[in-house]
Amino acid sequence: SVVDINFGCPVKQITQEAHSGSYLLRYPERVGEIVRRVAEACHPVPVTAKIRLGCTRNHIVACEVAQTVEEAGAAALTVHGRTAQDYFQGTANWERIAEVKSVLRRIPLIGNGDIDSPAKVVEAFRRWPVDGVMIARAALARPWIFRQAAAALRGEPIPPDLTLPEERELLMHHYDLVVRRFGPEKGTLLMRKFACCYAQGRPGAREFRTRVSRVSTPAEFHEVVHRSFPRVESAPYDRAAPPGANPTA
Ligand SMILES: Cc1cc2nc3c(=O)[nH]c(=O)nc-3n(C[C@H](O)[C@H](O)[C@H](O)COP(=O)(O)O)c2cc1C
Repeated sequence: SVVDINFGCPVKQITQEAHSGSYLLRYPERVGEIVRRVAEACHPVPVTAKIRLGCTRNHIVACEVAQTVEEAGAAALTVHGRTAQDYFQGTANWERIAEVKSVLRRIPLIGNGDIDSPAKVVEAFRRWPVDGVMIARAALARPWIFRQAAAALRGEPIPPDLTLPEERELLMHHYDLVVRRFGPEKGTLLMRKFACCYAQGRPGAREFRTRVSRVSTPAEFHEVVHRSFPRVESAPYDRAAPPGANPTA
C-alpha cells in the first residue's frame, strides 16, 4: 500500500476552512515538513504527494514544491495541470506538468488532468516526459478504462466498452465491495454518488440517477438497480464529463 497526501484539493471547505489541500501550496516548506513527518511515521510504506500547479495562475509553484517534496522523502509526485483557482475549468496544462520533470532527480512524475480515453493515455506518454498518468473522473464513468489503456500501451486491440448488463453487474460488484468496507448504511449512502456515474448517455440514465441518488438502504439500492438501471444500448454516446464527478457534490 501507499499513503498519498493530497496537496491539490481546491474545494473551499478544505482550503478556506481547514487550510489544507491546495491552500498549502503557498507554503512549500510546510508541505515538505508534512511529507517528511508522514514518511518517517509510515516507513517502510511509501508516501507520495499530489499537487496542483499552484494556488493561482499568477503564481505557479509546482517546480519549487516538487523539489521540496522530493527532498522530504516522497516516493512519487503527481501533478494535476490546473491551479486551485482554475478548479476544474479550462484544460489541464501539460506543458507545465512537463516542466516539473526537469527538477526531479529521483522520484517518478505522474501527470494528471483530462485523460479520458486510452488514446489520450498513449498520447500523454508519447508527448510528455512523465513516468505515469493518473485518471480520475473518466474512471468513475468507465472503471474499465484502465484495462483499455493497458492494452493500448502494449499496442494490443482495445477491449470494448462494457455492455449494459455487464455494467450493471460491475455496479453491483462495486456496491458489494463498498458495503463490505463501510457497512450497509454508510456504504449505500456513499454509493449514491458513484452509481450515478454508471450507464451515462444511455436512455433512462437520468431517471436512474434521480432514483439512485435518493436510496438509503440496501433493499432500496437493489430495487432501484433492478427496476431502473438502463437496459437499452445507444451508441455512440458521450461520457467524457460524468455528472456527479464534482468533488463538491
Ligand atoms: C469526485 C472526486 C473526488 C476526488 N477526490 C480526490 C482525493 O481524495 N484525493 C486527490 O488527490 N484527488 C482527488 N480528486 C482529484 C482527482 O484525483 C484529479 O486530480 C482530478 O479529477 C483531475 O483529473 P481528471 O481530469 O482525470 O479527472 C477528486 C476528484 C473528483 C472528481
